[in-house]
Amino acid sequence: MLFPDFRARRLRATPNFRRMIRETVLTSDDLVLPLFAVEGDKVKTPINSMPGHFQLSVDYLVKEALAAHEAGVPAVILFGIPDKKDALATRAYAEDGIVQKAVQAVKAAIPELTVITDVCLCAYTDHGHCGIIEKNTVDNDSSLDLLARTAVSHAQAGADMVAPSDMMDGRVAEIRGALDDDGFSNIPVMSYAVKYSSAFYGPFREAAESAPQFGDRKTYQMDPANAVEAIREATMDIEEGADIIMVKPALSYLDIIYRLKEEIDLPIAAYNVSGEYSIMKAGEMMGWVNASEMIMETLLSIKRAGADIIITYSATDVARQLNA
Ligand code: PBG
Repeated sequence: MLFPDFRARRLRATPNFRRMIRETVLTSDDLVLPLFAVEGDKVKTPINSMPGHFQLSVDYLVKEALAAHEAGVPAVILFGIPDKKDALATRAYAEDGIVQKAVQAVKAAIPELTVITDVCLCAYTDHGHCGIIEKNTVDNDSSLDLLARTAVSHAQAGADMVAPSDMMDGRVAEIRGALDDDGFSNIPVMSYAVKYSSAFYGPFREAAESAPQFGDRKTYQMDPANAVEAIREATMDIEEGADIIMVKPALSYLDIIYRLKEEIDLPIAAYNVSGEYSIMKAGEMMGWVNASEMIMETLLSIKRAGADIIITYSATDVARQLNA
């Protein structure tokens, strides 16, 4: 049908018509809030490049988790900043490590809130790489055991789901096997399967104090130019036992989310990363954009592209707005 028989504006004319034909609906059920844990008591150190976010000691982290829970956010994902870093990332899998303590505290205070943990070594190694270094390279196979130990220690602390973000080959199988061996066969693995080597992680590295001290992450994170490779990465992780496949970052990779949604039959998560948050907040501080409307539109676009789960630094604010 063509104009004038068809008029697209008829069904845009009233708020109710627009509500009735809306194809994509964002809800607080879609959101996951990232939080950064540090050692200490009553510590709330602002992360300069991420307004509204802080490095939080466990007592304050529990408060932020509670605020998210009360706003209607179903899950948080925890990152740790350890008191000491070393070549073998020993604080990543220590029983009294920072993430382990944070998980215990959040689960004790808010049992209904789902606690996911990021499994990686970069914040725990003195060189800031996601695996361990052998012969001047990030060595894949010798990193796997440490990643698996980290995941198991998170599960032992009470984590509901683990999310490996290191991009070593074979880590999902290693983690799945270790969880199963230790009696955690019901703990799902959300794999950062399709993680690009991205400039959008800059503010996060300030937050997590995890910038690589030499070189970059291009030997393990994906080349932003590649899309077919995303399918290969996702397929590999599914075969290794992943339960949820993540694409990261989200905004510059909406085509990848869309494509995976067509090709795979697992839930898809998308990580609306630190740089995506920071540029909108910076624009707001300059008075140039309406960040909260922009964030809402952004999250909607990520969902429209095919994401079932969206990890976003705006989770609590957005959930409050959606449930107001
Ligand atoms: C750890 C990790 C990173 C992010 C999540 N897990 C940083 C990186 O790979 O350098 C980035 C999250 C963000 O930018 O919000 N490997």
